[in-house]
Amino acid sequence: MTDDPPTGQDNVPDPEEVVQRHERQLDAALAEVEDPTPSTDESLDLELPGLELHRRDFVKAGAATGAVAGLAGCSGGLLGDGAENGNDGGGSANTDYHVPPGEKDTYYGFWSGGHSGEVRVVGVPSMREIRRIPVFQKEGGVGYGHDEKTKQVLEEGGDVGSVAGHEWGDSHHPVLSETDGDYDGRWLFINDKGSGRVARIDLKYFETDAITDIPNMQACHGMAVQSPDTEYVYGVGEFRVPIPNDGTDYDDPDDYWSVFAALDPETMAVEWQVRIDGNLDNADTGKDGEWAFATGYNKEHAVGPQGMTHDDRDFLKAFNIPAIEAAVEAGNYEEVNGVPVVDGRQDSDLNRGDDPVVKYVPTPKSPHGCDVEPEGRYVTASGKLSPTVTVVDIEELASTSDPAEAIVGQPKVGLGPLHTTFDDRGNAYTTLFIDSQVAKWDIEDAVEAEKGSTDPVTGKVDVHYNPGHLQAVESETTDPAGDWLISLNKLSKDRFLSTGPIHPDNDQLIDISEDASSSETGGMELVADHPVHPEPHDCVVTHRDKIDPNDVWDREDYEGEKPFVTQDASGIERTGEQSVEVQMSSSRSQFGLQEFTVQEGDEVSLTVTNVEDVRDIIHGLAIPQYGINLAIAPQDTRQVTFEASESGVYWVYCTFFCSALHLEMRSRMIVEPRDG
Ligand code: CUA
Repeated sequence: MTDDPPTGQDNVPDPEEVVQRHERQLDAALAEVEDPTPSTDESLDLELPGLELHRRDFVKAGAATGAVAGLAGCSGGLLGDGAENGNDGGGSANTDYHVPPGEKDTYYGFWSGGHSGEVRVVGVPSMREIRRIPVFQKEGGVGYGHDEKTKQVLEEGGDVGSVAGHEWGDSHHPVLSETDGDYDGRWLFINDKGSGRVARIDLKYFETDAITDIPNMQACHGMAVQSPDTEYVYGVGEFRVPIPNDGTDYDDPDDYWSVFAALDPETMAVEWQVRIDGNLDNADTGKDGEWAFATGYNKEHAVGPQGMTHDDRDFLKAFNIPAIEAAVEAGNYEEVNGVPVVDGRQDSDLNRGDDPVVKYVPTPKSPHGCDVEPEGRYVTASGKLSPTVTVVDIEELASTSDPAEAIVGQPKVGLGPLHTTFDDRGNAYTTLFIDSQVAKWDIEDAVEAEKGSTDPVTGKVDVHYNPGHLQAVESETTDPAGDWLISLNKLSKDRFLSTGPIHPDNDQLIDISEDASSSETGGMELVADHPVHPEPHDCVVTHRDKIDPNDVWDREDYEGEKPFVTQDASGIERTGEQSVEVQMSSSRSQFGLQEFTVQEGDEVSLTVTNVEDVRDIIHGLAIPQYGINLAIAPQDTRQVTFEASESGVYWVYCTFFCSALHLEMRSRMIVEPRDG
């Protein structure tokens, strides 16, 4: 950290112009808001202790669902109460985000890729995208889904509940495995919101090594690992569906299912599920292994937006892990599609006693983000359609028979609160989708203050535009770094050179290293914009010291499954009337076989080892006419099997620019006519 102003600060807009723009937006927005509002003072009774929400807040909040679409994207603060928005106008001491050539970032960031189905590795604070890791779809760059091993990963994750097969996924919430409440660098888990799937990335190799298609779940929105030691990986079901979903009984949405699923992180098998009322949205866990939480909407069990938002309340669901395990142990479950399903609905027998499996904490309707602060004392549910964040005391929740009593705070943070993240100084940061801001608030102040108070809010900063998730560095551990925060904004609008009608998202980097009570932003400073390909949803950021990837493959990691083929061992062997095995090495700048000959109609099993032991020397092996595209990292072996269906000469070439003789690095596959 230095006192030097960062580069790029000369883009600070003219303050007068900003004020004028805000005034214009305010006029336009108020004109839209005032009109349909019957009374600005009429309040909605949410039956929550000490909380009154004004109808006007809901009307404005309606923009989140498109009712007042014109509001979305306009700079806020002027519309909400509480702090004025805007940057400091420069001058504050700033953490340096510029990473000079040759230097490395302090942090690894892992971004979901949304419906691109991938995970991206981003250096923080430079925000340079370092690599992409394909997860839910085939990808040519690193040959994912092209070789037998990764093909199998995709296939095993693609059978349950898929009608047309899984061509793609909607990756949403990257989550790092933990030991002792800290990221341990072993795995990254990522869910598929498009289908009920959870994938695992092995961080030794930055490669997807398992995908589980979760039974009884059509869409997996939330994702979490159980703190402190990754006891479970949770996939959180969003869409409610009939079980079995075979068309026999489809017209009673009250009887549709939504489940919370617990997977074993090692085997990726589904251990148990809990069926709940309503649906589930985002998830997080307590820090002591006892509780997991998920927000949810649609307690109405409706099938359209109006019905789903009919009631004023929804629930934060608290999953009592030991009680659920005891129920499974005692056989108190129904086995559905091979999985023990515990009944966690409100009227379940398992929820009647002293130790219910699920506690339903009433919140304002349709809460969204679910985040546990670093000390593990409170879980927060961000309001989305309510301008508040609900703060629940986890210990109190565990002991009370009335979950509403565990609500200990409800600060009013602004319009469209979606997600909350934390620093190491007792501050929470919440994205405001409608206000297009990040609000900073003090957690203990929020517990002290009256519910609905704006007092705990210590600052707001404009973001551009309409933020969804946000993530502070190491926010999910017990000891966040407290220096950087990323706001993942859904729209970029006018921030970048136009690329036609499809715009990138905008991930903005915010310096949160300083608290400044005198400043409108509470010390937050927006320092950089970064356009991103559609459509990251969330990210997780860890110190680089916690990730320790290999430079080359360890042979023992695939010993017994695949051979290590040296130049000398390269050769071809006929294994049957119509099958051959071809094994060869690859190195700079030749394949182990200059040519190989097979018969038309042969099933060709091709095994290729990259014998290099130097980092970053990758070889490819492509036979385009047969759709073959392998990427082989140093010391690794990859395999593919195909049918040599048409006779002819086919060049086999290396796809990675590996040496000065890269172009010459070829082999020749001759497919002889069978009876020729
Ligand atoms: Cu090997 Cu190019």
